[in-house]
Amino acid sequence: MTATFKIAIAGLGTVGSGVMKALAARGEDLSRRAGRKLEITGVSARDRNKARGFDITGWTDDPLSLAKGDADVVVELIGGDEGIARQLVETALTNKKHVVTANKALLAKHGLALAQLAEKNGVTLKFEAAAAGGIPIVKALREGLIAQPIDAVKGILNGTCNYILTEMESSGRSFDDVLKEAQAKGYAEADPTLDVGGGDTAHKLALLASLAFGTVPDLNAVAVEGIAHITPDDIAFASEFGFRIKLLGVAKRIHGKIDQKVHPAMVRVRSALANVSGAANGVLVDAGEAGSFFFSGRGAGEAPTASAVIADIVEAAAGGPSSVFGRPAASLARLDPADGSRAVSAWYLRFEVLDVPGVLASIAGNLAEAGVSIESMIQRGRAPGEPVAIVMITHETAQAGVERALKAIGASDKVRARPCMIPMEA
Ligand SMILES: NC(=O)c1ccc[n+]([C@@H]2O[C@H](COP(=O)([O-])OP(=O)(O)OC[C@H]3O[C@@H](n4cnc5c(N)ncnc54)[C@H](OP(=O)(O)O)[C@@H]3O)[C@@H](O)[C@H]2O)c1
Repeated sequence: MTATFKIAIAGLGTVGSGVMKALAARGEDLSRRAGRKLEITGVSARDRNKARGFDITGWTDDPLSLAKGDADVVVELIGGDEGIARQLVETALTNKKHVVTANKALLAKHGLALAQLAEKNGVTLKFEAAAAGGIPIVKALREGLIAQPIDAVKGILNGTCNYILTEMESSGRSFDDVLKEAQAKGYAEADPTLDVGGGDTAHKLALLASLAFGTVPDLNAVAVEGIAHITPDDIAFASEFGFRIKLLGVAKRIHGKIDQKVHPAMVRVRSALANVSGAANGVLVDAGEAGSFFFSGRGAGEAPTASAVIADIVEAAAGGPSSVFGRPAASLARLDPADGSRAVSAWYLRFEVLDVPGVLASIAGNLAEAGVSIESMIQRGRAPGEPVAIVMITHETAQAGVERALKAIGASDKVRARPCMIPMEA
């Protein structure tokens, strides 16, 4: 074997603990795979005295010192798109150390600059764990599915949202109710905004889109909508139409440009994405003539995420492929964002209206004026005086037309809540 591969790990939380345990348990086998002895020579976190359940050697209170010492790779598992995580990664790359990270926020925001820095210093920057946790989707897009241009990547990329939507469907309970329970069980953060608002999915989508389309990760070009407005009624109606609601990150080519969106979508109950349940993740890649490929598995948690980090460490030790986004940074194109309002699909529409004569005719009129035609409709009565739900599925229509109609409909004093529109994924 050649020289020992020295590993410095910053961050010993959920993911860092998993990496420490996996290296302790299977270090010898992993060393054989790497062709070099893997050795942890430095670790850092915030609190030196925290009980962690594994042996610690090489502790330092200053994570930055790990980027300046003799490590071959610095593993950044602290998190955050600025601050210490960014400083650590930049310092490590500048000091010609490989970097492995699970930090989607950092890469989605600073991916190009960090890729350039890695290349300039002749080292690698790997991030398999940053998108879809344990699923090896980064490797698949970076090295596997490269022979054909990719048309689309669609993913369930946030386990918290998928858990909430799955629970809402099986129990009929509201979003708020299920979210509270998820927080109590530790499946959702105390501040769930980044998850349920779609921001976390957007980070991951920006990275997958870069790998798929050879573009600079462009978080600002992702249109983001979360799941907080989804009601048990939406889920029940979806089921009546033969669909299930999932939070999807979708990046696809439209008229030669790239459309990136995070939004709740209706997926057919028998489709692969519809059957990704609970906290699992799933990614569908449409690789043109090569066909469609579906990946699913655990997208978060100690062992799955550590599995992806370990794979990156071993690959770095073995001298595996070095380009960060699958191409030299200089050849990544600036992402040319598609006009998302031109995206065409069928739509699920829900209106909460007063049960008075003429409401339905007025909604139908607004839709017709915007060129939106209705394929099917369900109307549900409630107790007298309560709003009723009118639900429609449209024929294929551009998003802009539906938005125009909903703006007009929402302005009526007979319409009680903001109308809801959800695209039906083909
Ligand atoms: N959790 C997952 O399932 C998952 C999945 C995919 C990707 N990721 C990504 O992995 C990264 C880590 O996530 P995590 O869930 O493991 O986080 P975590 O459990 O909150 O752990 C964060 C670790 O960073 C340490 N830390 C925080 N601030 C620090 C500072 N200023 N200096 C030094 N150490 C500091 C903490 O120290 P103490 O332990 O002393 O408090 C802790 O060990 C994030 O980028 C996250 O997005 C996580």
